[in-house]
Amino acid sequence: MRAVRVVRHGRPTEVIEVQDIPVPDVEPGGVRVAVSAAAVNFGDIARCRGGIASVMAQPPFTLGMDVCGVVDAAGAGAEEWIGRRVVAMCALSFGGMADAALAPVSSVFDAPSELDDIEAAAFLLPFHTTYLALHLRAKLQPGETLLVVGGASSLGTAAIQLGAAAGAHVIAVAGGREKGELCRKLGAELAIDHLSDDIFEQVMAHTDERGADVVCDLVGGPGTETIWTCVAYEGRYLPVGFNDDPESGFTGRPLRKVSMGNFSVVGVLLAYMPASLGMRQFGVVPTPPERGEEVHAALGKLVAEGAIRPFIGRRISLGQVAAALEDHEQRRTRGRTVVDLSLPA
Ligand SMILES: NC(=O)c1ccc[n+]([C@@H]2O[C@H](COP(=O)([O-])OP(=O)(O)OC[C@H]3O[C@@H](n4cnc5c(N)ncnc54)[C@H](OP(=O)(O)O)[C@@H]3O)[C@@H](O)[C@H]2O)c1
Repeated sequence: MRAVRVVRHGRPTEVIEVQDIPVPDVEPGGVRVAVSAAAVNFGDIARCRGGIASVMAQPPFTLGMDVCGVVDAAGAGAEEWIGRRVVAMCALSFGGMADAALAPVSSVFDAPSELDDIEAAAFLLPFHTTYLALHLRAKLQPGETLLVVGGASSLGTAAIQLGAAAGAHVIAVAGGREKGELCRKLGAELAIDHLSDDIFEQVMAHTDERGADVVCDLVGGPGTETIWTCVAYEGRYLPVGFNDDPESGFTGRPLRKVSMGNFSVVGVLLAYMPASLGMRQFGVVPTPPERGEEVHAALGKLVAEGAIRPFIGRRISLGQVAAALEDHEQRRTRGRTVVDLSLPA
């Protein structure tokens, strides 16, 4: 089968090859998906370059965290999934950009019938992550103000829509006019251009100097403390992503500023699985698997109502993944990039 392989760590266009590799075997409690579409994630860049990512691997390995396709094989205990059209997060977040990919059942869901395969592949990871963040973790309320930092990113385009669907006043931060326009189209009342605007001044002016009740930050890095000044009294700050941080958020931040700001820092991790002691020892506490179905059902309802729809910036072939990763790295993308397996590599 065809697979997008990282053959050594380095610049995507120099170390990624489309190779022919054996079809993987299923394991107990897991399924194999005949992949029709797979999504590109910012985290793939660090994996490729050998930078800091939540899950890392030594080359050679196949990229691809999330897919849409049909289950063509199932391990013991997962037989009920055979033949179903699904969206899935791949085992250890690798292997999706290939003709077949493995996934544990706790990360496999029926694909929403309203979405075609490309849209369904674009839907899963951004909407599940930001739903967990806004609703289960930050408990966003109608009428509250939500600030989405990195509004035109894949996850940002989902967070804006979920915020608007929840009846929140959404403010987005993005770089440049086109990205701002996209954020407004998706439901942001205000799009702040971080290339030309003062983020603090704009947020304060828009919120009668209250600040944002919930902040969904997909960027982190040097701007974090400025973003913290935008959080309302008793607000919730969600450090969801770290696009502007080569240390991927592992650098320290002055907690005194959280204390002075009277707000909460609320973590979120998209990983549906039972917590093991081994994981806990490394500080990883995943979301209980049953929550995944709950979130998927709530999102499915919003899709059916037309309240949310994944925003696809580009549809590419397997052979275009390396260049697409560099485009994500250079901020040249909007929304999600999806690999269409029906296109010749
Ligand atoms: N917590 C979780 O469970 C979880 C799950 C999934 C993803 N994530 C994280 O969520 C974040 C967003 O992922 P994504 O796939 O949505 O990202 P993406 O679509 O690739 O985002 C790209 C955008 O990020 C912004 N950005 C800010 N600083 C940047 C920098 N130094 N270099 C490149 N881009 C920068 C740029 O927008 P502007 O030009 O507008 O600034 C750029 O266009 C990632 O950090 C990812 O690891 C977390």
